[in-house]
Amino acid sequence: MLESNNFHKVPHRTANMSGAKERLQLQEKFEIMPETLGGQFRKDFPPYLDGLVRSEPHHYVTTPEFAKNAEDIYNLAPRPDDIYVSTFPKCGTTWVQELVWMVVNQCDFEKSKKEQLSIRSPFLEMNYMLPLKLAEKFEREAICRKANSPLVDKIMELICYWNLMDWLRPFIRKAISFVLGDCLRDLEQIDQMAGPRVIKSHLPLYLLNPSVLNTSKVVYVARNPKDVIVSYYHYHRLLEFHHYTGNLEAFADYFMTDRVYSAPFFPHLLDAWNKRHHPNLHFVFYEDLKKDLRGEIQKIAKFLGKTLTEDQLVKLTEHLRFDNFAKNETVNCEIGKEIGLMNNSGNFIRKGKTGDWKNHFSPELNERIDKWMQTNLEGTDLRFITELEQQD
Ligand code: A3P
Repeated sequence: MLESNNFHKVPHRTANMSGAKERLQLQEKFEIMPETLGGQFRKDFPPYLDGLVRSEPHHYVTTPEFAKNAEDIYNLAPRPDDIYVSTFPKCGTTWVQELVWMVVNQCDFEKSKKEQLSIRSPFLEMNYMLPLKLAEKFEREAICRKANSPLVDKIMELICYWNLMDWLRPFIRKAISFVLGDCLRDLEQIDQMAGPRVIKSHLPLYLLNPSVLNTSKVVYVARNPKDVIVSYYHYHRLLEFHHYTGNLEAFADYFMTDRVYSAPFFPHLLDAWNKRHHPNLHFVFYEDLKKDLRGEIQKIAKFLGKTLTEDQLVKLTEHLRFDNFAKNETVNCEIGKEIGLMNNSGNFIRKGKTGDWKNHFSPELNERIDKWMQTNLEGTDLRFITELEQQD
């Protein structure tokens, strides 16, 4: 069993966040998934040197690094003016993050152009997902690439040789911010951030502070799992942290058998779906955003108690349209390519379609996915937009 305090942590304040009275104990316990330590899995996901872990009792799949920090994240105190954008990965998080940030910041287009979305709206668990060795590699490469000097290469080599990366991490992070501009906030910075905070998280609700839903507002975004599988597959090939080398069919199997980061898919969605009538939770489908972006912006603004002028609404709808969004350098994560976090196999803001799965699945694979969906939706009233409606 992985206990938070037995492992090396990414340095940040580990006491109660925001002066909370008592440190909360996370009931979820994480154990290494032995099948992820060798065999075909290790070949398909070469960077997962330490494998993945699965939690009990909820079976959440994540990295050992996250497991070490999960309780600190759980202890981040929510505030009444916080808005959490909560999703399973690839459901339209970035899109809705920018939407929500704009709505709560009076459509401040100027600021949104100047500052990375990841700074305006931090990704709660981002700093705590990567295995430390891999994070060090990215940090080292980012600095060397940017400095483009044999002397810096040599210094970084020595720092790694003497195992000083850990000790120097706060300095290294500052150096990276200096050369690349700010693009990450750690937990302590999130804790101290001025409100209203728009916080992105892929964590299921039970891994967030248990007061979140009664204290803050949550916008939950869901998407048809067939398009999520395709989008997640491309993302796993794009991100050097995953560097997936297998094919789509094998990836779909990993996805359906809960052997990908953030799995299992259905419990994540169903937990939020079952809470959708809570006054602090707004549930939105990616497919509805595609169908009527303007209408969904209005619904979200109403949920957040904000009113947009006609002019703001028109401009925001345009700002969020796929073509504009994909070109927008503060949201499209192209900076990830500079840091070496992403390769050149594609783009983070990729295609933005509903029903793209039809270009990828064989009839046999589609049938298997249909069965998997049917089994998981049995006894629930959650339904995804049907195939016919998905033409766009
Ligand atoms: P695809 O890979 O299918 O293109 P997340 O932000 O949760 O990682 O979700 C990423 C998915 O949302 C990607 O899907 C991406 O292209 C899509 N997306 C991002 N911005 C979008 C926009 N403005 N309009 C439509 N889809 C968008």
